[in-house]
Amino acid sequence: MQRLFFSLILIILIGCGNKSPVNIYESEGYKNLSANDIKIGESIWASTCFRCHMYGSMGAVSVNDKKHFDELAAKGFEQLSKRVTDGMEGARGVMPPKGSCYSCSKDELEKAVYYIFHLAQKAHEIEITKNVSNEK
Ligand code: HEC
Repeated sequence: MQRLFFSLILIILIGCGNKSPVNIYESEGYKNLSANDIKIGESIWASTCFRCHMYGSMGAVSVNDKKHFDELAAKGFEQLSKRVTDGMEGARGVMPPKGSCYSCSKDELEKAVYYIFHLAQKAHEIEITKNVSNEK
């Protein structure tokens, strides 16, 4: 009986310690993005993140790779925005701290992180690359 009791406590402890991150697409932060948040995220995307993550330059993964971004989303917002803030070394290239947007505030950077996932989700609906190259 005592053993059962301790096993239960152990299971509860392990269960709580292992709290898995919330997928970005299911997070409150993502669902509650306002039109203005998206606009701010987009402007930062266009001035910095775009250079590497649009076509996958400098060893970055392109937003057109929806599968990759879906897998990333599962890591949760906290970890991903920390990676962007600190910078990271990927398998094929390096992302500078703050995704090289050195004048960005923490808040702006976070909006850019949400935006990149917003964009990746759209990528399979509209093929951005084609639309851009077809524009005159
Ligand atoms: C100089 C190129 C460059 C710029 C600019 C850049 N990145 Fe990156 N980024 C990379 C590389 C390289 C990686 C690692 C490979 C990958 O996952 O794409 C990366 C990874 C990431 C990841 C995945 C992190 C993880 O945990 O695997 C996210 C999210 C990201 N970048 C978002 C951004 C955002 C948002 C911006 C703009 C604020 C930005 N990046 C600007 C090159 C860049």
